[in-house]
Amino acid sequence: MTFKPPKISSSEITPVRDWLRRREFLTMSAAFAFAAGLPREGHTAPLAASSSDYTVPDKLTPKKDVTSYNNFYEFGLSKDDPANKSDDFKPAPWSIRVDGMVAKPTTFAVENLLKLFPPQERVYRMRCVEAWSMVIPWDGFPLTAILDRVEPLGSAKYVAFESVVRPDEMPGQRGVFQSLSWPYVEALRLDEARHPLTLLAVGVYGETLPSQNGAPIRLIVPWKYGFKGLKSIVRITLTAKQPKNTWSVAAPSEYGFYANVNPSVPHPRWSQATERRIGAGGLFGSSRVPTLMFNGYSDQVAGLYSGMDLQTSF
Ligand code: MTE
Repeated sequence: MTFKPPKISSSEITPVRDWLRRREFLTMSAAFAFAAGLPREGHTAPLAASSSDYTVPDKLTPKKDVTSYNNFYEFGLSKDDPANKSDDFKPAPWSIRVDGMVAKPTTFAVENLLKLFPPQERVYRMRCVEAWSMVIPWDGFPLTAILDRVEPLGSAKYVAFESVVRPDEMPGQRGVFQSLSWPYVEALRLDEARHPLTLLAVGVYGETLPSQNGAPIRLIVPWKYGFKGLKSIVRITLTAKQPKNTWSVAAPSEYGFYANVNPSVPHPRWSQATERRIGAGGLFGSSRVPTLMFNGYSDQVAGLYSGMDLQTSF
């Protein structure tokens, strides 16, 4: 497919009609319920001792916004397309291939992953690329738990992620004019991927992840802009060289590899000093708040970038 850089920005384009939950996922939801008090809309997230490093004190974004205002270009460019145009998508059965520079390449069925790594309740501040943000209670487990299983080789330096390609089920992947080239790809440095904050999410708001949010399993890297959070993962590959990532291929002057939330590095077309908090009141159902370095997770992640110039490695 010949690829034309999109004229749209990554957030121009993002749900939930009730998602048809499958039987195997019902078990999963029951597993989520173990968490002491599932988060409720409009309430401050519970700060359980075990998750205090991960949670933020901010008010949660209402579930209806989390599941209806989405970016998932495989379903279309509008924010409501992922919720409205994902009825044909089949997130089960599903498996992820983990391969590349590892001693034990493995294909994991998602239902087996859930048995191996019970989800934990966590709350993250999730930011998207156009300086808007949400506070989302994801359920998931650290990516590093899977990496341990496949035993990365000493030569592995990066972790590449790949989304599903299913034009029959994803209307944004059909037709002559494509917004992005498929599959959607992203990558992290191995130490970023190994950080305990880096999560494979399988649920949100205590329920199975709906299609529009990246069913059945997606990446969450809470100190980076939202476009790093690749949805509906089918493959994870460990590499020695820095892999490509969709947005820096599509618009290299606008999006880099690192994508760390950094209020002092403006996007070429807008400031990133403040963010619009979706669903937080105000005239248009949102309000502006100052953007925090590393999205507020400096204490946990700044050390990953010591010695780097974050103005050039954006
Ligand atoms: N993953 C895939 N496969 N396709 C996409 O278009 N959009 C990204 C990211 N992951 C995207 C994706 C962008 S730009 C953002 S902001 C987040 O998903 C949005 O996640 P959310 O809809 O759950 O808030």
